[in-house]
Amino acid sequence: MSFSTKLSLAMVLLIVWACGFSTEKRRPKRIEDTQEKREVKRVSEADIINRTRKLGDSITKQAASVFMSKISQQYAEGGYKAAAKFCSMQAYPLTDSLANEYKVFLKRVSNKNRNPKNIPSVIEKQVLEAYEYSVKQGDDIAANVQFIRPGDTILYNNPIKIPSELCLNCHGSSSQISKEVQAILKQEYPNDKAIGYKVGDLRGMWSLKFLKKEIVQGL
Ligand code: HEC
Repeated sequence: MSFSTKLSLAMVLLIVWACGFSTEKRRPKRIEDTQEKREVKRVSEADIINRTRKLGDSITKQAASVFMSKISQQYAEGGYKAAAKFCSMQAYPLTDSLANEYKVFLKRVSNKNRNPKNIPSVIEKQVLEAYEYSVKQGDDIAANVQFIRPGDTILYNNPIKIPSELCLNCHGSSSQISKEVQAILKQEYPNDKAIGYKVGDLRGMWSLKFLKKEIVQGL
C-alpha cells in the first residue's frame, strides 16, 4: 500500500469515526429536547380548572349581557310580548359561535324552570342545591368547576341571580306580569314554574360543559 493510499484510508476512517462520534453525541441531546417538550405539555389539574374558570366567566358574562340588551331592545320595540322569546338560548347565534370556538356546550338550568329543557341533571341539581343552601345561610356564591366522569369533561357552573326589575316582567308575581305576557307564557309553557321571583333571588345557573382536551390545548 502506497503512502498516499494509506493516507486516504486513514482520512476515510477518521471521517467515519468523526461522523459516528458526532451522531453519538447528538443522540442524548435529542432525547433531552423531547423530554423538555413533554414537560412543557404536562399540565396540572389546577391549571385546567383555572383556565376553565376564566373561560366560563368570560363566556357567561358575555352571554348575560347579550340577553339583557336583547330583551331590553325587543321590549322597547314591541313590549314584553315581543321580548318573551329572547330569554331563550335558542334565540342566540352566540351559542353556536361559542360552541364552535371553544367546543363548549352552553345552557341555563333552574329548579323552577319555565322550559322543560332547562331541568337540571343529577349532577347539576347537586350544584344548584349547594347554591340554594349557601344563599339561605347568607353566604356568597361563586362559579364552581369540576371534572365529571369519565374525566374528559369539565362542568362549569355560575349562579344566575335576578339582577333587575326587568326580569320581573316575566318572572315576577302575577301582578308584575302583564295579562298579555301571562297568556303567552300559559300557551307556550303550560308547566311554567319560573314565576314569583324578586330582585336578588337565585333564579338558576349557567351550565357549561368543556372538553378537557380543548382546555389542555389552549394552555
Ligand atoms: C320578556 C319576558 C322575559 C324576561 C323580561 C326575562 N325572561 Fe327569563 N325566560 C323567559 C322565557 C320565555 C323563558 C323560557 C325560555 C326557553 O324556552 O328556553 C325564560 C327562561 C329563563 C331562564 C332559563 C330557565 C328556565 O326557567 O327555563 C333563566 C335562567 C331566565 N329566564 C332568567 C332571566 C333573567 C335573569 C332575566 C332578567 C335579566 C329574565 N330571565 C328576563 C322570559 C323572560
